Amino acid sequence: MAAEITYDKQKQVFHLSNPFLSYLMQVDEHGLLQHLYFGKRIRNYHDGRSYPGRDRGFSGNVPSANLGEQPDRTYSKDLILQEYSGNQTGDYREAGSIIRSDNGSVTVDWRYKGYEIIEGKPSLTKLPHSYVESNDEATTLNITLEDTVLKVEAVLTYTIYADRSVITRSVKMINKSSATYYLEKIASTQIDFPKQDLEVISLPGAHVRERQIERQKIKHGTYRFESRRGTSSHHMNPFIALVHPDTTEHQGEAFGVQLVYSGNHLFSLSKDYIDQTRLIVGINDYNFSWQLKGNAEFQTPEVIMVYTDNGLNDMSHTFHHLLRERVARGKHKFAERPIVINNWEATFMDFDTKKLKSIIDKAAEVGVEMFVLDDGWFGHRDDDTSSLGDWYEYKSKFENGLGGIADYTHEKGLKFGLWFEPEMISRDSDLFRQHPDFALQVPNRELTLSRSQYVLDFSRPEIVDTIYQQMIKILDRIPIDYIKWDMNRHLTEVWSNAYSPAQQGEIYHRYVLGLYELMGRLVERYPNILWEGCSGGGGRFDAGILYYFPQTWTSDNTDAVARLKIQYGTSLAYPISNMTSHISESPNQQTGRNTSLAIRGDVAMSGVFGYELNLDELPETEIEQVKQQIKFYKKHRKLIQYGNFVRLDSPFEHNSASWAFISEDQKHVLLFNFNILSEAQPEIPITKLKGLKPDKDYIEPATSKVYGGDELMNVGLYHFPVQQRDFVSSVRYFEELQ
Ligand code: DGJ
Repeated sequence: MAAEITYDKQKQVFHLSNPFLSYLMQVDEHGLLQHLYFGKRIRNYHDGRSYPGRDRGFSGNVPSANLGEQPDRTYSKDLILQEYSGNQTGDYREAGSIIRSDNGSVTVDWRYKGYEIIEGKPSLTKLPHSYVESNDEATTLNITLEDTVLKVEAVLTYTIYADRSVITRSVKMINKSSATYYLEKIASTQIDFPKQDLEVISLPGAHVRERQIERQKIKHGTYRFESRRGTSSHHMNPFIALVHPDTTEHQGEAFGVQLVYSGNHLFSLSKDYIDQTRLIVGINDYNFSWQLKGNAEFQTPEVIMVYTDNGLNDMSHTFHHLLRERVARGKHKFAERPIVINNWEATFMDFDTKKLKSIIDKAAEVGVEMFVLDDGWFGHRDDDTSSLGDWYEYKSKFENGLGGIADYTHEKGLKFGLWFEPEMISRDSDLFRQHPDFALQVPNRELTLSRSQYVLDFSRPEIVDTIYQQMIKILDRIPIDYIKWDMNRHLTEVWSNAYSPAQQGEIYHRYVLGLYELMGRLVERYPNILWEGCSGGGGRFDAGILYYFPQTWTSDNTDAVARLKIQYGTSLAYPISNMTSHISESPNQQTGRNTSLAIRGDVAMSGVFGYELNLDELPETEIEQVKQQIKFYKKHRKLIQYGNFVRLDSPFEHNSASWAFISEDQKHVLLFNFNILSEAQPEIPITKLKGLKPDKDYIEPATSKVYGGDELMNVGLYHFPVQQRDFVSSVRYFEELQ
C-alpha cells in the first residue's frame, strides 16, 4: 500500500496515512490549521476530534472579521491544538515562530492559504535530509500558511513514507514583501498533543558519558532539551521520544522525534493549563536571529518523526532502517565496515615510523583490516597546543613521509586511514599567524581557549575553502581509504567580521551550513573514502552528520562497562552501522577500571569493531584471543552491522544488560549477555528473546542444542553459570534449523 494524502474539501481535513499511521489536520472556520491526530492508522476520519469550544477566562479570542461584532468567546488560540503557532495573538504557550519587523513588533498570525501534494520527496537545499530513491516511496504535502500583514508565508512540508512508520517535517519561510524581517525563532515542527499522560525519554550526557537514557513524567512547566554549544553536543542529543507510562521496550505507543541537524537545537515541551502538551523542535532560538530580506527564503532543518504502538525497540528499528537506508549515502552505506586499529590510545602524538610500523605489522598478523593514523601527523604537532589549521605533513615524524606510511600499510594488506580536525585553528599555527581573524572572535575581547584551540569562522566561505584546498592537497596525493573527522571543542565568542551587526544572530547556523558545505564537497570529490564523524568521541552523533559520514566514533570512553550504557542509549535513535566501538587497554584510560579482554571484545563487537591499543604489549595468550575475536567478528559482521538490534535488558535498570542481533529473515541470532557487578547472593537473570519465528527451531552450533523459537521467546535462557567476579559476558549464536 502506498502512502496516501487526502484532502476532504468539505471538512477541510488533511489525512496522511500509510499502513502504520495516520496524521490528521483541519483548517477551521478562522483559517487556523488545527492538529487533530497523530497515531495508529485509521481508515477514515469522520468528526471525532472537532475541538469543543468553551469560554475560558484569560484566554483571549480571535477578533471577528466584521468590525464591531463580538468575537466567539468559546474559541481561543490559547488552547486550540495547532500545527504551527505564531506569536502574541492570544496563544500564551511556547511559540513555534517569532518574526521581528522593523517597527519592533514580534507578532505573527498564521492563517491557511493553500496546499499542494507532490509524489516523492523533494530535497532540502544545503541541509542534510532523508530521501527517496523513487517517487513511489513517499508522498509530500506542502501546506502554505500566511501572515497577511507581514506578507510572509510559512510552507509546512510533510512527507509520509509508504512502507515506514515515518513522517518528516520541515518549514520554509518566504518573505513575499519588500520589507526586511528577523526570524527570531523558526521551529521545524510543532505537535500539540491532546490531554494524555505522557513521559519524555531524552539522551543527556557529557564528554565520555554520552547518551544516557533518562525518562520523566511531563508535568506543568516548560522543559528544554537543547544544545547551546554550536554543535549537537555530548550533553543533549537531538532526539526525544514521547511515551505513555506503560510503554516498554516491546509494547505500547512511542513517538520518536529527531532533528537532522548538527548545531544548536531545541526540543521544548510544555504542558498547558488543561494538560495538553506542546512539542516544538528546531534550531535553538538561543542567540538566533536570521535577517530575511524582501523576497528571500529560509529553510529549516528536517525533523524525522516515528510512530509505533509496539514499544521502543520497534521505534528504534524504524529509525535504524530509515537512517541507514535513506539518510546515509555513498558506496559504504551497506558495505561491511573494516576492522580498524587506531594508534591514538597506543601512542597519542608520540610516534615515529618505527612505532607505527610495529603497530601495522602486528595488526596485519592478527587480521585487522585498516590502520588509522590519528592526531599528530601534521604541522609540528607534538601536543594539543599547536598546528590545527596547518594540514601538511610533519616531515620529521616520518622516514619516507606520510605517503611512506600509507604505502607500507597497503603493502601489508591493510587499508590506510587518517585523522583531521578541519574546523579548528591553533594559536600556534601558520594559519593563525597569517590570518588571526579566521578564528571566531568578538572585537576587543579575549578568545576563550578550549583544549588550547580556537574555532574557525566557518560562516565565511573563503575560510571553508582554505581548509578544503589544504585537505585536497593531501587527499589527492596520498592513497587514503578512510578519514576520521574530529571536532574537539565547542563554540564561544560567536561573532563574524564578515557580517553586519544585524546578522550576528545568524553565525551559529551559518557555521553549520559552512561545515555541511565542506563535508559535502569532500564527500563528493572522494566517493571511495569511508568517512567517520567524531567530536571528542560522540559529541556530534546526529543524523545531519550521518548524511555525509556513514559512521561516528561513539565515545572517547572505551571502558566496556561504561560503554554498555553509552551504546544502549545511542541505539535508541541510531543504527549499529553508525556506531564505532574499539577495544582499548585495561585498566581503562578514562575510568581506571580493569576488565577482561573478553568483555571488552563483546562490547566492542556490538558495533563497528576495532582496536585502539598497543597489540605488542599483549601477552601471547591474549594475541590468540584477539585473533579469535577478529575471526568471530568477520563471520558475524553483516549480522551485527545490518541486522536488527534488539534491546533486551537495560544496564540503566539492572546490574546486567542483554541485547541481540537478529537477521532480517529471522534465521540468525547473536545473543549478548553481560553481568556487571558480582553479588554475594547473585540474582539469576533470564533473557527472553524477541523477534524469532515461534514455530521454527533454532540450533546453537557451539553446543548442538536445539531450542524452539517460541521457547527462546517465552521460556528464555538463564544468562550463564553464576561466576564470582565482576564484568562477565557471553555471546551465543543460534541459527534456524533447516
Ligand atoms: C578526540 C577523539 O575522540 C579521539 O579518538 C582522538 O582522535 C583525539 N581527539 C585526538 O586528538
